[in-house]
This record gives sequence, C-alpha cells and structure tokens, in this order.
Amino acid sequence: MNLDILIPDYVRSFQVYTPSRPDHLLMQEYGTPLLHRLNNNENPLGPPPAAASVIAAFSPARAAIYPSGDSYDLCAALGERFGISPDRFLVGNGSCEVISSVIKAFCQPGDNIITADKTFAVYEWVAGFSGIEARLVPLLDYAFDPQGMLDRIDRKTKILFVCNPNNPTGSCWTNQVLIDFLEKAGEERIVVVDEAYREYVEDPGFPDTIALMDRFPNLVVFRTFSKMYALAGLRCGYLAGTAEVVDMVRRTSVAYSVNVQAQQAALAALSDDAGHIAATRALVKEGKMFLRGVCNNLGLETVGGEGNFLMIKTPINDMLMYRRLMKRGMMVRTMTGFRFPGWIRVSLREMAVMESFAGALEDEIRSIRK
Ligand SMILES: Cc1ncc(COP(=O)(O)O)c(C=O)c1O
Repeated sequence: MNLDILIPDYVRSFQVYTPSRPDHLLMQEYGTPLLHRLNNNENPLGPPPAAASVIAAFSPARAAIYPSGDSYDLCAALGERFGISPDRFLVGNGSCEVISSVIKAFCQPGDNIITADKTFAVYEWVAGFSGIEARLVPLLDYAFDPQGMLDRIDRKTKILFVCNPNNPTGSCWTNQVLIDFLEKAGEERIVVVDEAYREYVEDPGFPDTIALMDRFPNLVVFRTFSKMYALAGLRCGYLAGTAEVVDMVRRTSVAYSVNVQAQQAALAALSDDAGHIAATRALVKEGKMFLRGVCNNLGLETVGGEGNFLMIKTPINDMLMYRRLMKRGMMVRTMTGFRFPGWIRVSLREMAVMESFAGALEDEIRSIRK
C-alpha cells in the first residue's frame, strides 16, 4: 500500500497530539503515591448533586439502548433555559466535536479561519488537518486583539474564533468590544465565541452572546458541560446559533455521538446549578487569591483573569518544572504548546490541594535558586 498517494499533504504534515498517559503509569514513572491533576481545569467539586444522582442511578439495561440521536430533551431544556427554540442548539461529544462540525460546515481547502496565536489550540488543529489555513493573530497584552483579527480578514475567511474568557490567559472581551468586532467583521463570515469558562465569569460587562444573535445572525457560541458542570469524563458540549446556521452545521455532525448518560447528566446538571456555580466560584476565588499571593512572595509573575486557572512564569524550562512537580504528585500544564515557553498553567482547586501545591512550588523554586 502506498500511503503517500492516499494521504493529503496537510494530514501527513500534521503533528499528532499526544495525550498524557494514564495516571497510574505516570505515578509509577515519577515515583509518586498520589497525583493531583492541576492540568485540565477540571472542577474538584464534581457535578451538581442532581447530576451526581443521575450518574449513580444509571441502569446497565439503559446502556443497551441508543441515546437520542439529537439530544432531544437536552436541547429542549437548553431552549427553556435561554428562552430560545431548541432547534438553535447542537449538542456534541464535548465542545471539541462542535468545533470540528462548524469548520466542516463552512470551510473547504483554500479557505481560512482566524484566531489568536496563544489560545485553545483545537480551532487551529482542526483547520490544520482539514487543509484550511489558520491565521494566528498575536495576543495584545495577553488578550485577543480585535483589530489585529479584523486586519487579517480576506474573502477566503470563513470563521473567526474568539475564546472568551481566553484559555490560558483568562482575558475577556466585554459586551461592547464584542459588538464593535461583530459590526466590523460583517455578516459574510461566522464569528464563533467559545465560552467554555463562561460560568466562572463574574464581570457584569461580559456579553450575553445568545441575546446578540438577534442582531448578529452570523454569531455562534460554544459552551461545555466539562468545566463548571464537572462532566468532562462524559463528554458533552454544545453550540448555539440561529436556526439557519445550526441547520447547516447539523449536516456535518455525527448523530448519536453523545451518549445517553452524558445527556441525562447534563440535563440534570442544568436543573440544579445555582448552588453549585456559587460554591465553585467561591472555591476558585479563594484558590486564585492564595496562589497569586504565593507567587508574589516567590517573585514569580502570574497571568490570570476569569476562569479556574492561573498561569505562572517559571525560572526554568516549563517541561523541567513539570517533571519536578510531577515527582511531588502535582500535575500541571506545560505552556510551550500554547506558545508560552517557560510558563505553566495551574488549575485552581480546593485549598488543601492549593496548599500542597504551594509547598511543592516553594521547595522547587528554592532549590532552583540555591
Ligand atoms: C476554551 C476551551 N474550549 C473548549 C474546550 C473543550 O471542552 P470539551 O471538554 O467540551 O470538549 C476546552 C477544554 O479545555 C477549552 O479550554
């Protein structure tokens, strides 16, 4: 078989993403009896109580039956929550799946998408292995640069992706910045706002993106049950847009990709989120203040805003810092892959874990500076 003639160049040249190995292997390799995951911005409180009950009560017999192919009940509940029609939602196997569906729906080789250079990389990756150019605009003061993105638009630009709040810097566009951007971007292209961390945002100036769709029908928003709702392991995310846009994107998405337990748990999570969101925000706020203080005392620069994570500049290579911290049972995210060499990103967790992390970081920094 001659794979060379079968595989498009843009697939052959794409560098595959290597996920981290299972915890039990990492613990063995680094010789640590416990491992705190501070690498994926997961919620340590777990899902809201109603979702936890649904998961615990899941009947094995139900596993034999296919789920709703279009997450019917979940779309109905989302429609009710946001006061719009259920056909304006498309649920995916994590919001990563809907990223892929949107790019497939609007782009063909030769087209381009525009996003930032230091943001969630999946927009760039899906474009890359689909033969679509990803135009990466440098962040401005750690935030998405609206004018920089507008300047890169040409007639082949199909989608602009804005991560709001931005992973990993936590920067946010306010309602006014987004409106100005949408006005200037024009209706001939799609503007996607990825709000994976929106439930963490406390700033009252944060946009109400679903309301803005009445004025800007080219606006699409992504959300997920992985972060605030702590259902990352079940994989459930969604997009919202106008009925016409969603109808187009649905054509490129795989029906039945969202499993029944994910649909049930997400539905329950939505019905029971107020106390959960408040408790999670309080935990994140406390962890962020604490960790910022620790870093200040150590003379380490931090970058963070909204979201359950904080970036820390390390005095050594980020991979070396990762290895040192792993030996102490602390798994952080290296930032070289996000084009922030020398930085790590730390997920904010409950204080007991934050204190252990701070102890490990302080020891390592002292030993590096000795
Ligand atoms: C900005 C952003 N968007 C989307 C995702 C993907 O989330 P999901 O688990 O829904 O695929 C993540 C996950 O880290 C993220 O940080």
